[in-house]
Amino acid sequence: MSLKEKINPAKLPQHIAIIMDGNGRWAKQQGEQRIFGHENGVKSVRESVEAAAELGVKYLTLYAFSTENWNRPKEEVMALMQLLVHTISAETATLNKNNIRLQAIGDLKSLPSDCYNELQEAIDKTKTNTRTTLVLALSYSSRWEIINAMKEIAEKIQNNTLSPSEITEQTINAHLCTAEIPEPELMIRTSGEHRISNFLLWQLAYAELYFTDKLWPDFRKEDLYEAILDYQNRERRFGKTSEQLIS
Ligand code: FPP
Repeated sequence: MSLKEKINPAKLPQHIAIIMDGNGRWAKQQGEQRIFGHENGVKSVRESVEAAAELGVKYLTLYAFSTENWNRPKEEVMALMQLLVHTISAETATLNKNNIRLQAIGDLKSLPSDCYNELQEAIDKTKTNTRTTLVLALSYSSRWEIINAMKEIAEKIQNNTLSPSEITEQTINAHLCTAEIPEPELMIRTSGEHRISNFLLWQLAYAELYFTDKLWPDFRKEDLYEAILDYQNRERRFGKTSEQLIS
C-alpha cells in the first residue's frame, strides 16, 4: 500500500499551513548562493499544491516571505521578489487549469509594485476556482496582523459601533487577514527548526505541529503524505480527556 493510499479521506485536514524553511542551507550544501535554494524551492511549492489538490485538502497556506525577511541582504530580498513575480505569473494558467484559487495574506501594500500587481492579477484570474485555495503569506507576520485587528476593533469602539463587552473570539477572527479561511488543523515546518516564527499565532491555537528535518527544496508529495498520516494518528482533544472523546 502506498503512503497516499494509507491516508483516510474522512480524516483529511481541511487546512494545512507550511513554514517552508531551509532553502539557504540547501543551497550552501550545494556550494551555491542562497537564491539557488529559493529557486529550487519552487518545485516543492508545486508538488505540495498538486498533492493537496489531488487529496482534496481545501486550503494550503505557505509562509513565503515574513515581515522579518525584509531585514535580509538587499540582493536576496530583490531576487526573492523577482522569483515570486515570475513564479506567480508563470503558474497562473496551471492554477486555473487545476481549479485552484490563489489568495494572499500579509502587508501586501509593502511589496514592490510589480510583485503586488502580478499577485492581484493572479488572485483575480483564479477567484472563481473551487477545488483548493492556495494562500501565500507574503510580508506577513502574526503580530503585525493582530496589531491591525486590534486597531480596527479599537476604532469601532471609538465610533460606538462595537462595545467592549461584545468582543468574542469571532470578533477577533473577523478582523484577521484569515477572516474567510478556516483554522489550520496541521502546521508543517521543514529544516529541523522547532519554532512557529510569528506565523498564524492565533489561528494555530489547536493545530497539530509537525516538524521534519527535510530542507524545503527536498520536500516532495511523499513528505506531505507522511505529515498527514502522522496527523491522522494523533488524538485531537481540544482540552478534553480521551474518555470524553469516545463517549
Ligand atoms: C526559507 O528558507 C524560505 C523563504 C524565506 C522563501 C520561500 C520562497 C520560495 C520557496 C520561493 C517561491 C515561493 C512561492 C510561493 C512561489 P531560508 O532562506 O530561511 O533557509 P535557511 O533557514 O536555510 O537560511
